[in-house]
Amino acid sequence: MPESKTLYQQISQLVLPHAEEGKSLSPLTVVDDAALLIEKGLVVASGELGQIEKEHDLTNAKRISLHGKSVVPGLIDSHSHVVFAGERMDEMAMRARGDTYESIAQAGGGIVRSVSALESTSLDELVKEARKRIQHMKSLGVTTLEIKSGYGLSPRLEAKQLDAIEILARSEELDIRATILAHVIPKDQRNNRSNYVAEFLSKTLPDAAERSRVYYCDIFVESGAFTPEEATLIAHKAKELGLKLKLHVDQLHDGNGATLAANLGALSADHLEKTNLQGAQALAASNTIATILPGCGLFLGGENWPNARTLRDAGCSVAIATDCNPGSSMVMDLPLCGTMAATQCGLTLEEALWGITRGGAKALGLDDRGTLQVGERADFVVLNHPNWKSIFYTPGAAPIEQVILQGNAIYLSTP
Ligand code: NIG
Ligand code: FE
Repeated sequence: MPESKTLYQQISQLVLPHAEEGKSLSPLTVVDDAALLIEKGLVVASGELGQIEKEHDLTNAKRISLHGKSVVPGLIDSHSHVVFAGERMDEMAMRARGDTYESIAQAGGGIVRSVSALESTSLDELVKEARKRIQHMKSLGVTTLEIKSGYGLSPRLEAKQLDAIEILARSEELDIRATILAHVIPKDQRNNRSNYVAEFLSKTLPDAAERSRVYYCDIFVESGAFTPEEATLIAHKAKELGLKLKLHVDQLHDGNGATLAANLGALSADHLEKTNLQGAQALAASNTIATILPGCGLFLGGENWPNARTLRDAGCSVAIATDCNPGSSMVMDLPLCGTMAATQCGLTLEEALWGITRGGAKALGLDDRGTLQVGERADFVVLNHPNWKSIFYTPGAAPIEQVILQGNAIYLSTP
């Protein structure tokens, strides 16, 4: 008889995030001395070994001992800009001498420099550089990764960035999902904003929506980017085209963006550094996931941390993502973002783990992952430590031993 089932056993702690975060400070169940039974890339059973042995015929199952290590679901990074060209290291140096992210953008730096770099970089080079980052993310436990366009600012150049994302999605082993991002208005069109928005609605967005891997539309709502009115127009068109909505809101100023995201029925409202209490309450009363991006706090310094405790206490479900991008968060490390969500943004370690697993799944509208419950995808991470909290305890050095996607190892650390 060929083995079709695999039983991972001798798991010291198996972390099962709850499907919904709810109000609990501990939105997950930890099972000691656990096992995980998988078949055809799906979870068949997860929980106590004794129970699984009682309930399942394991005669032909292949048994793999994890020797007292812990297991968490595959990490889900629901917000990244990891496909980009060039670097903006000089901007970091400028900030260290007193400039700000905003003053640099106003002086002609920032996002538009990444647009010029995208223009002058070949598709091959673009893919090659992004691949290194994605492989690093994979080695840190990520099994599902969202990647945005938004450095094109024209139909032709957005297509180039989306082509790169598609090439990576086809050739890398993790599940990559693309988003078309309305990022900023090009400098030379800022006096004629409505023309730019019209072209985005009639060409950029429909072209992107035709691609099978583009599931989402995101809009940067901010004083230097799109207004709430422009965002509303784009959001309606995106929905008409079958795309799900995500928004960058309240990053640099409180623009009532969280309320806008809730009113527009967005899947997620991302950033939220400056969100007011009404915004938090609006998100809590909606199905929109509050996504925090602590990499921006680390990278930009100053007042750039979101208050995730306020969001949770208001009743929001909180996801955590890297926002990996060259300007505001050159951070590829999702476990590190979880650590910062706890130490800088007020989450418990259990909420932080929920945020980088099930929270990410919900921020992407994916119901088939993030909890390791029966029937879900068998995407999981083996930690080289008996305690699951080790994933947050050594910032920048999470003990990731194995990363498994649909039952197959996609990363094994070298001993
Ligand atoms: O999520 N806020 C806007 N977009 C990105 C930054 C992009 C950049 O600076 O290149 C963000 O922080
Ligand atoms: Fe972003």
